[in-house]
Amino acid sequence: MNRRQLLLASAASAAGVASGSLARLPGPAVSGDAGGLPMPRPTHALPPVLPESDPARVRLERGWQFHEGDVVAVAPANHEQTYLSVKAGNAQGAAAMAFDDSDWLPVRLPHDWAAAQPFVETANISQGYRPRGIGWYRRTLRLDPADRGKKIELQFDGIATNATIWVNGSVAAHSWSGYTGVVVDLTPFARFGDAENVIAVRVDAQAMEGWWYEGAGIYRHAWLVRRAAVAIASDGLHADPRRDGDGRWHVPVVATLTSVDHAPATVTVEAMLLDAVGHTIARAAVSAVVGALEDSVATLTLDVPSPDLWSIEQSKLYTLVARVRRDGAVVDERRVAIGFRTIRFDPAQGFFLNERHVKIKGVCLHQDHAGVGVAVPDALLRWRLERLKAMGCNAIRCSHGAPAPELLDLADRMGFVVMDENRQFNPAPDYLAQLEWLVRRDRNHPSVILWSVFNEEPMQATEAGVEMVRRMAHAVRTLDDSRPVTAALNGSFFDPVTVANVVDVTGFNYYQNDYDRFHAMFPARAMTSSEDTSAYETRGAFSGDPARHIASSYDVEVTSWGDTHRSTWKKIADRAFVAGGFVWTGFDYHGEPTPYAWPTISSFFGILDLCGFPKTAFDIHRAHWVDDAPVVSLAPHWTWPGREGQPIVVFVMSNAEQVTLRLNGRVLGTQPVDRMMGNSWSVPYVAGRIEVVATRGGRTVASAVQETTGAPVALRLTPARSMMAGDGEDTQPVSVDAIDARGRHVPTANLPVRFAVSGAAIIGLGNGDPNCHEPEQSAADAGARSLFNGLAQVIVRADTGKGRIVIEARAPGLAPARITIDRLGIAAPAQVAVTAPQQRIAQWRRSMPFDARPSPDLAPRDGDNNSWAFVASGTATPGGDGGGGDGGRWRIYRTAIVPWRAIGAGGGRIHFASVVGRGELWVDGQRIATKAEVAAAPIDARIAPGAGARQIVLILEADSHAASGIVGSVTLSAA
Ligand code: GAL
Repeated sequence: MNRRQLLLASAASAAGVASGSLARLPGPAVSGDAGGLPMPRPTHALPPVLPESDPARVRLERGWQFHEGDVVAVAPANHEQTYLSVKAGNAQGAAAMAFDDSDWLPVRLPHDWAAAQPFVETANISQGYRPRGIGWYRRTLRLDPADRGKKIELQFDGIATNATIWVNGSVAAHSWSGYTGVVVDLTPFARFGDAENVIAVRVDAQAMEGWWYEGAGIYRHAWLVRRAAVAIASDGLHADPRRDGDGRWHVPVVATLTSVDHAPATVTVEAMLLDAVGHTIARAAVSAVVGALEDSVATLTLDVPSPDLWSIEQSKLYTLVARVRRDGAVVDERRVAIGFRTIRFDPAQGFFLNERHVKIKGVCLHQDHAGVGVAVPDALLRWRLERLKAMGCNAIRCSHGAPAPELLDLADRMGFVVMDENRQFNPAPDYLAQLEWLVRRDRNHPSVILWSVFNEEPMQATEAGVEMVRRMAHAVRTLDDSRPVTAALNGSFFDPVTVANVVDVTGFNYYQNDYDRFHAMFPARAMTSSEDTSAYETRGAFSGDPARHIASSYDVEVTSWGDTHRSTWKKIADRAFVAGGFVWTGFDYHGEPTPYAWPTISSFFGILDLCGFPKTAFDIHRAHWVDDAPVVSLAPHWTWPGREGQPIVVFVMSNAEQVTLRLNGRVLGTQPVDRMMGNSWSVPYVAGRIEVVATRGGRTVASAVQETTGAPVALRLTPARSMMAGDGEDTQPVSVDAIDARGRHVPTANLPVRFAVSGAAIIGLGNGDPNCHEPEQSAADAGARSLFNGLAQVIVRADTGKGRIVIEARAPGLAPARITIDRLGIAAPAQVAVTAPQQRIAQWRRSMPFDARPSPDLAPRDGDNNSWAFVASGTATPGGDGGGGDGGRWRIYRTAIVPWRAIGAGGGRIHFASVVGRGELWVDGQRIATKAEVAAAPIDARIAPGAGARQIVLILEADSHAASGIVGSVTLSAA
């Protein structure tokens, strides 16, 4: 059973795909619950996986070789080398097909090499003091001869930052943004059967597109796609429901077909709409003609009079299945989850989803997580979104660039609305293409409600800036006329020349004091806060200490351009015309360590820290944003030895009516809840138990407790889930904390912890401390990380197969912790088979025919590109005049090759799979083999060890007027 089948076998899970079951996830444990660990209890189920959308694609994530640093190609030494070096298929250096990558590091994708870097003071501050640099990836790939005639593509969902991609020695694509996917058409370069294909990717991560940690490498999923010759193009399906004036719905389906065939083809495109349980509720078909090597567009309409609507609480999805039939047979299929909803931004009342008012309670997100950098596994991405959902967050801004596609798939399923953002503010063709790609990729997602064309551009109030936005907005609207275009402005709202004049929704980054003036001056303009807050908190710290780069978690430290979490939200909540806001940020991220610098390596802005451990800001937003469940929280922790008698500010957030504070059973007071700004008491510290009880109508609806804990005596491990899929992909964060003799979380413990795992691999470590320089990656089965204010996190990825995962944690002087997680026998997602690289001789110079045996020394003169032909291994030379001469029977084939390191060092074998003609094989002036018969047969010989280039010469004698030549592959292998 694979995870999808498991998912479908479970009605509950299936409903989870279609409806907002995640909205019912347990919120964070009440403080004091689970021994005070500020994380939810483990769940006992696997989260549903994302369904496959494209059966033609398979992950291409194993079998890659990686080299950190650049590989500079040796400059051509003579005219012939120069001539050849610029020819198709002849890329040089690490891009060369025959390059020896045997000493490179085997890696699996997604891969962020920056995450393994140490922190270096001279490296860029904004990128988190991690050297990024240049790196190379190579992958050898075999294609089944049955795939001949198909359209073959590589898809990279994201490479940080600039990349050049070669296929079989030819440049096949460039990528100019780390946020944009790249589709590489491999079809014209493809080799089938035994002949390998070689993919080489040079990644330039010195290029920066942001002022935050951007990672380095092929950090999102990578795929090999094999489609029928006539099929729907990648990102070629547009299906975004529309409501008609009479309230009925239809789904306009536009399929862009593409052909690599040799003649025009007539196909039928079918579209079907499936409901949550898989019943077909609408269907249509149309026929289309696609010319050879051309595209054509098929348009259909599905009528769905009264579908269940998609919303934040009930994220009901339908599945649109589009199929291409040719001669009656289905040759291509694509599935896309769609949702029926209307959106509207009202200048006076804000945002409406399905004509119901929704205040946008959003967060801005960068991509990285502790330990893994930007290569965030799907399951961890989901876990992060679950944390946000538990806080009552309903919106995500993808700041400041296109997110991983999985984020939007999850947003659709979990019920978030999304402000989808473009990275590069530039309407020049290369960059406009990035924006168009974003819209094409994401326009089917019901979650996406806004296209943001930029964030804070200094040209936002210039004539050129306006012209740039006009073009970008036009490009967006051409591809999608249903969602407003916005831009995140920092100021310039009132200038006569400003982009605010040409966007549909004005995005305010900060400038909260201008809200009212803007609304008064432009009452017909819709607006939202696109970014706000920028307050600092260090998780678990309750007094700021600038000397130690620590921020207080009382929601009091703010940037000069931002404000506290509470005051910010109050200004948004109080104004109906402000559609909502996006807090900077949901999670801490590496880089931008404002307001500090070295040795601080990550931000303080997060509502949750780098590991996703909640700060006080989490409770603030929970009280602000959760309406359907009682909330109360109490900060700080209550373990302050040495502070006896001193006043401690007790900070309470709640959404109830009244809160009553008790210390060791004694009531300290009752206050009406201030949901916006919170309630506080100054309490002289006495060890014991402090508790807040929240009431509504006199009835207790929630409570929170902090207790003074004793010294830590043991470690504790708390996984997010008690089971994992044994699919080699499933990943989860495991919290580690120290507990006292009574099993209570010790919030002050800062102990070094060592981990050991079996049945899984450690892929990352973190503790949420912005000042910690401990490595975030280490050996797969062991790692170390200190607790920071009581907590650390180890991120584990399950091995394959049914079994058990055992995780152990040890700290000096404490009882160790050991947990067991069930690993379920669930099939791993299909991966393209790994192919061991093999050195081949692909190219030969072939002489003109001779009547008599030529000398093996005979060679073309340097600069003679013409009288000796360039022939590939596997090519027969026709006999007689067909060979381009006067019918002589003798020819020379010659080439020079540097054997791969192992062969050069220890010697090896040269193997001609098939040669026609009588022959002599010479290497470096020595005859090493003879072939006595004319008939096709292999030649195999030993090559002596030796450094540098080797001269290989094959003299062949054909039967008169018969074909001859090197008709099979030629390989070198170690002895
Ligand atoms: C904003 C910017 C963000 C981040 C933030 C920090 O101006 O858009 O990317 O830098 O400030 O407060």
